[in-house]
Amino acid sequence: MHASAGIHGTWSHRWVFILAALGSSIGLGNIWKFPYITGEYGGGTFVLFYLLCILTIGLPLMMAEILIGRRARLSPVHAMQLVAQESGASPRWGWLGWLGMISGFLIFSFYSVVAAWIFDYVLAMAGGQFVGIGATQSASYFAQLLHDAPSMLYGHSLFVVLVMLVLAVGLRRGLDRAIRYLMPMLVLLIGVLLAYAASTGYMPHALRFLFRFDLGTLSAEAMLVAMGHAFFTLSLGMGAIMTYGAYLGRNESIGRAVLTIGLLDTLIALLIGLAVFPVVFASQLSAEAGPGLIFITLPVAFAQLQGGQVLGFLFFLMVGFTAWTSAVSLMEPSVAWAVERFRIGRPLAALLLGLAAWLLGVAVLHSFDLLSHWQVRQLNLFDLLNFVTSNLFLPLGGIAVSVFAGWVVSRELTAAELRLSSDWLYRCWLLAIRYLVPLAVALIFVINLYNVWL
Ligand code: TRP
Repeated sequence: MHASAGIHGTWSHRWVFILAALGSSIGLGNIWKFPYITGEYGGGTFVLFYLLCILTIGLPLMMAEILIGRRARLSPVHAMQLVAQESGASPRWGWLGWLGMISGFLIFSFYSVVAAWIFDYVLAMAGGQFVGIGATQSASYFAQLLHDAPSMLYGHSLFVVLVMLVLAVGLRRGLDRAIRYLMPMLVLLIGVLLAYAASTGYMPHALRFLFRFDLGTLSAEAMLVAMGHAFFTLSLGMGAIMTYGAYLGRNESIGRAVLTIGLLDTLIALLIGLAVFPVVFASQLSAEAGPGLIFITLPVAFAQLQGGQVLGFLFFLMVGFTAWTSAVSLMEPSVAWAVERFRIGRPLAALLLGLAAWLLGVAVLHSFDLLSHWQVRQLNLFDLLNFVTSNLFLPLGGIAVSVFAGWVVSRELTAAELRLSSDWLYRCWLLAIRYLVPLAVALIFVINLYNVWL
């Protein structure tokens, strides 16, 4: 199992790894979640804290995930087993991979529901259903969609099928090829949307909103959400990037790849913010709309602005594509694991796991009708999964991986895999991964627990 390319093969080119990791990290997190949590938690200060988390927690952790994956060339469960043994530690570290696969399933289940909304909006935009729509109508359209589980079922099922198709055909022919076409398309569409947003004349308002710094507005919960989002947006804490790292060539520089991925993911989130908020402000809508932000406010905005239907259609189509490439990475660790564990083919692994994910998604689909009475602290199943995975599971997974990479894996091994350009850089990484990441994440947890109980 320790052949140089592993049983899953490798990316066709270094850039494909970077594109794939970008395809994973750029998704609903950047486009659906980042704008609405930024709106809810007050803008500038939240954004600044989020950027800080990306830089100090996200990037070192991403390096750790990639190095572990590449070392073993296996799915997270087996990769951590192998790397632990290589460092003379217990193979039980592999259990962490299980936590990751479970997180992946849970995230996938609500991710697919949002994808179902997007599917509906693409069709609605194409069908001209939002022509001349006002704020109240738009809100009731969204509310109606939430209570229409059967119609969401189409989008959900289609999404699961699309994701599983990519996984079934495998790395080279599936993901590799899909991503080559999807990423350039994404960049093109964001450019169009930005030009459009600039033409509303509200760009200065959006800039002020996103970058105004005021320490007083940073609550403990905002810190937790900003940190959780750093994990979510970079696809960290569950082994997705570790699995992609398993397909990375031996000679590629991990540091350079991580910088590119972190920079572009952040850039795209900020650009999306700059594309979304001018439109929101130009239409006198509230930035604090919550998870419905892009679904309620944007159609109104698109309806009020010239050429809005076509742009709305393109926008939601683009969101759908990014959701697709991200969701693939949520399930890839499980598929790779099943292939390794049971020696079955990818198609069968994808089929079985897809079926399981579909079923779980159907339950989440009913968060707003049949199961709407099922709530924990006023969060329905959808909100709960959304909150708990980002703000609990992923950070916990992150602590575990950082402890593993910093304290359990031997320094010779990490240094040899990372091969950073200077010893000084390696020391910085080690310091971050040993102390900064686990302590900072734990501290934010403690502050929040303290706030809840006292
Ligand atoms: N990063 C993606 C987004 O921003 C979501 C995602 C894909 C993810 N794979 C992941 C989140 C793994 C956490 C872990 O939408």
